[in-house]
Amino acid sequence: MRLLRQLFLMFLVIGFLGGVLLLFTYDVIKVEWPSFMEIQPSFRPMENPLPIPERSIPIEGAIAIPALGAPENPIPADETSVARGAQLFSIHCQMCHGPAGEGNGPIAPFLVNFRPANLTLPVVQDKSDGSLFLTITNGVTDRMPALNENLTVRERWDIVNFIRTLKAAQ
Ligand code: HEC
Repeated sequence: MRLLRQLFLMFLVIGFLGGVLLLFTYDVIKVEWPSFMEIQPSFRPMENPLPIPERSIPIEGAIAIPALGAPENPIPADETSVARGAQLFSIHCQMCHGPAGEGNGPIAPFLVNFRPANLTLPVVQDKSDGSLFLTITNGVTDRMPALNENLTVRERWDIVNFIRTLKAAQ
């Protein structure tokens, strides 16, 4: 009988301690542990990117040399490129610029200060390929996000080639 009582007491103590431990593991009682992921320099999506570390080399080659203006389009606007551009456009641009680039994507009504540009109009279509490329790369300050981190150089040129077909469709 004494043994049973001792066993019961022991399980009670273990159970209690376990319960206290669970309060912490399930964040019922929250302790701010420092985590190494938080300490390292980082930025959230759409925040200004960190400056590029010194002496780093772009793996895709120079994208645009500042003094030389907009780059030339090195990707021929063939079927493959345009088809790829269309796909990428529907992923990265359509929500703002609309499926046909008319500036009427599903989130356009919420961008109250600056509506997404209508890409079918001459204001956009008269720009050079390189200028459109730089718009995708750098965004438009406070209006359109820079998409250089979402799209490789090749993918951006594919989108430029696709944007050209939007004009023909008009
Ligand atoms: C978050 C919404 C948003 C997304 C995503 C977005 N844009 Fe825009 N874009 C805008 C807005 C807003 C403007 C209008 C800026 C202004 O008023 O000057 C704009 C303008 C433009 C212009 C015209 C720039 C000019 O100088 O006339 C081009 C070209 C363009 N976007 C292409 C793209 C492409 C290509 C993508 C996808 C790779 C894209 N945008 C993704 C919101 C967006």
